[in-house]
Amino acid sequence: MSQEKVLIFDTTLRDGEQSAGAGLTVTEKLEIANQLNLLGVDIIEAGFAASSEGDFDAVKKISNSLSGTTKVASLARCNKEDIKKAGEALEKAKNPRIHVFISSSDVQIWHQLRKNPEEVLDMAVSSVEFAKQYCDDVEFSPMDATRTDKEYLYKILNAVIAAGATTVNVPDTVGFAVPSEFGNLIKSITRNVDNIADAIISVHCHNDLGNASANSIAAVQNGARQIEGCINGLGERAGNASLEEVIMNIETRKQFLGVATNIDTKQIYRTSKMVSDIFGFQVQANKAIVGANAFRHASGIHQDGVIKNRDTFEIMDPKSIGWTNNSLVMGKLSGRAGLKSKLEELGFKLSKEELDSAFKSFKDLADRKKIITDADLENLMSTQRRINNNDKDSYKLEEMHISSGTTNIPSATIILSTPDGKKIKENSTGTGPVDAVYKAINKIVSSPSTLTEFKIDSVTKGIDAIGDVTVRVEKNKQGYLGRGADTDIIIASAKAYINALNRMISMQQHDQNNN
Ligand code: KIV
Ligand code: ZN
Repeated sequence: MSQEKVLIFDTTLRDGEQSAGAGLTVTEKLEIANQLNLLGVDIIEAGFAASSEGDFDAVKKISNSLSGTTKVASLARCNKEDIKKAGEALEKAKNPRIHVFISSSDVQIWHQLRKNPEEVLDMAVSSVEFAKQYCDDVEFSPMDATRTDKEYLYKILNAVIAAGATTVNVPDTVGFAVPSEFGNLIKSITRNVDNIADAIISVHCHNDLGNASANSIAAVQNGARQIEGCINGLGERAGNASLEEVIMNIETRKQFLGVATNIDTKQIYRTSKMVSDIFGFQVQANKAIVGANAFRHASGIHQDGVIKNRDTFEIMDPKSIGWTNNSLVMGKLSGRAGLKSKLEELGFKLSKEELDSAFKSFKDLADRKKIITDADLENLMSTQRRINNNDKDSYKLEEMHISSGTTNIPSATIILSTPDGKKIKENSTGTGPVDAVYKAINKIVSSPSTLTEFKIDSVTKGIDAIGDVTVRVEKNKQGYLGRGADTDIIIASAKAYINALNRMISMQQHDQNNN
């Protein structure tokens, strides 16, 4: 028997990008959008076209590139300029959607918008009507719906559906609801909005109280047929509903919930990895579904049970989310074909040129590290992505020498190649070797910014492990991520800093060129 479908609306590129410290390039957004397409999400909210040139460009490029049935959405406030921008950015999309929103709770209407409920109702209706001139598929969100007067909520939903909204979203904007209450709210909407059958009910839950996924599932049990959320639970403040969690709830408990999604669950792990890597936000080890410990059994009793029969302590097969546990390790003697097939197994399909470049990096790593694991290969591919995504005309580390110890002042000498092809050498002392290296780099790049985050992770266990450095720099209140990996952590630190500065320069140039 075919089950009723729940549509999955991914907003990683819009609400997810509102996570503090996030900032992606258009190329990175495009790469994530392509992976979301493989995952099989029904709608990708590619951005908020009117909010910045970068977002406009991202919505446009994703619209132009996605074929197939996936819809591309742009967010817009309830005003003509925003809707026009969204319509323009979505012009080439095969399946466009405009998502208009306006505050509906008294506290936001009176104190933020400084309007009254009747004015807001008129703006909502006229905006849906205006958005309909650009595309048939229009979604409406009454922001802060869970703190909105119920009679007013029914009234505004009824009015926007009459005006042509095809999806009405119920956002728990401040993550205030608890599951039974939220489920009841959805049920009351199905009973009190006369024309509700003409639209799909969507939910958009924030995780301030940790209820986002549970609230979304409660909503589905009461009639919602679209769930909005982000991969890895990214999003404003404590984030949105974690899409991998809601998807695996529906998959694992399909008998109980009686619904299904269009998702290819085998792409979940890969999507989570990619999003974590590109955003530079690590997934916590005990995170449901995609955390490093999600399928690890530590206690003797559990291990004993799983060895005898996995069902004793496992409700999901890790393979169903595409988690591979192939311990086949690679090393110095592994060949190109072996690397290719191992990378394919990990979900990386490479062109000949990409494989050539990956193989070169692999051999280089194998000279320094005896055993290369899946985690090392994933890290290597992450470095390859950064190389491919970097503008050709950016700064590159050519040479580096440092001196540090217990009795001398740390110092560094750096040679960078510059965007115009020169090689510049600088040196500096510092409080430590990383400080000395960063000061020398600053003398060459001379684009003042503040270092706001510096973190070193070890990719695998062992003394020869790769060090993976994450840094964030800030300029004009905008954060820029940088990553670098190497078996030498000072070199990894230098690479990460140069990566952050390159991204900062290229994103600023992109904005300037479009202004
Ligand atoms: O949280 C929220 O209310 C939103 C809306 C724009 C849907 O993100
Ligand atoms: Zn939100």
